[in-house]
Amino acid sequence: MNKTILCIGAGYVGGPTMAVIADNCPDYKVIVVDVNAERIAAWQSDTLPIYEPGLKEVVERARGRNLFFSTDVVAGIKEADIIFVSVNTPTKTFGAGAGKAANLQYWEKTARDIIEHAESDKIVIEKSTLPVRTAEAMHRILQSNTKNLNFDIISNPEFMAEGTAIDDLQSPGRVLIGAMEDASGQKALEAVADIYRNWVPEEKIKKTNVWSSELTKLVSNAMLAQRISSVNSISALCEKTDANILEVSEAMGMDPRIGPRFLQASIGFGGSCFKKDILNLVYLCEFHGLPEVAAYWEQVVLMNDYQERRFVKNITSCMFNTVADKKIAVFGFAFKADTGDTRESPAIYVSKLLLEEHAILAIHDPQALEYAKLDLADCEGDISYESDPYKAAEGAHAIAVLTEWKEFRDLDFKRLYASMAKPAFIFDGRNLLDHQKVFEIGFNVYPLGQKVLSHL
Ligand code: NAD
Ligand code: UGA
Repeated sequence: MNKTILCIGAGYVGGPTMAVIADNCPDYKVIVVDVNAERIAAWQSDTLPIYEPGLKEVVERARGRNLFFSTDVVAGIKEADIIFVSVNTPTKTFGAGAGKAANLQYWEKTARDIIEHAESDKIVIEKSTLPVRTAEAMHRILQSNTKNLNFDIISNPEFMAEGTAIDDLQSPGRVLIGAMEDASGQKALEAVADIYRNWVPEEKIKKTNVWSSELTKLVSNAMLAQRISSVNSISALCEKTDANILEVSEAMGMDPRIGPRFLQASIGFGGSCFKKDILNLVYLCEFHGLPEVAAYWEQVVLMNDYQERRFVKNITSCMFNTVADKKIAVFGFAFKADTGDTRESPAIYVSKLLLEEHAILAIHDPQALEYAKLDLADCEGDISYESDPYKAAEGAHAIAVLTEWKEFRDLDFKRLYASMAKPAFIFDGRNLLDHQKVFEIGFNVYPLGQKVLSHL
């Protein structure tokens, strides 16, 4: 084997990222460690801890050959030449910066584990998303070691999206590697680039200084989320003016300077990162005395909250100003299609708001029901979880489409309609369905940013 790579953190990023590295780099031994023994056991089993199209095949090709999962963090640190740190960096919930700043306690713990157990020089890579200038703190902690060891800190943020992680990792738009500008930093940068050169074309490997790399990650997520909030804000205006958000998005996106992607109106963006990373950016701007810049980016999150609330308000007002004791079939709970992940899913907020209105919820999702149960465990109210969408809709007054699972389009809407209370409503929070078709079946259809199709 050429070198040993360790990844600390076997989550949504660590697992798939390392599987793809191991698959493409048979000369490297790749060990993925985590303090969560249950997660590691799942990575070692036939039932992987996360659902991601194509992941199982990649893991099965490499596992046991040059890809290993373990709970032995100490042994991993001792053996590794290169350490990716891919632990969670959630929003801080306590103390200074609570609600906005990143909680770096898991991150710092790994730095302390590394200095305690390392017996040789290491390259330490920030794979987690971190505030700009974290590498400085990391460097100080690691260089405080008394063993005379050298640690180079590299920033190599991850841009994969859930649901398409394997394709994104196999054919990335870019691999960003940021390093310190001294000779040691540049040598470390090349060592990391060498890993990716096994399958990523040279022109896609973008090298920057370490601060640019850290900041690019936060800003990339903020820019993506900003597009969604922008289009969602316009969906509200479309509903007032008979403009159609699909037409507006498509026509706008034909301008190559704007481009067609990420202009899909929705009930709001979810996922573990957009909100947390924008709030972190907001915090950094406030910290650096830039309140106008902070307020600008915070608006992206506020608009997202507005869109979620607006959706529920619309449901209530269209259903004769009350949903109390009315059954609503929630179709989709994951934060997007093709994942079982529900972190920050708009479905959580929409469901909670509906429960506050005393609606009865029947939740269906092809992959995310177990997480949905945990997310709503503390909620009072009448909630059932159905693996069969037809069962969820039985006797319901409305269907609310909250995730864009393609299979929802192919459901038998005549059958759904026949089993529901009348008048039957569809609130399509993803503009997923064929609205004319379901309208002709008898539904009253409320898309986002488009004309309402109502029999009432
Ligand atoms: P995750 O919560 O799924 O995984 C993190 C893992 O780290 C957990 O399993 C946890 O047990 C483990 N961990 C925490 N502290 C540890 C320690 N001291 N030693 C060993 N293991 C430890 O998180 P994730 O979604 O994989 O995200 C990880 C990072 O990557 C975050 O900074 C996130 O912002 C970033 N990111 C996530 C995505 C995504 O799609 N989820 C994409 C790009 C970047
Ligand atoms: C996002 C980024 O796309 C990744 O590049 C990044 O690495 C990752 O965050 C991260 O740092 O965690 P992810 O959250 O997995 O990836 O999924 P996205 O496809 O970006 O979708 C995020 C949310 O926006 C979803 O709720 C999705 O439904 C919503 N969305 C997306 C829209 O509402 N409209 C769109 O046009 C696109």
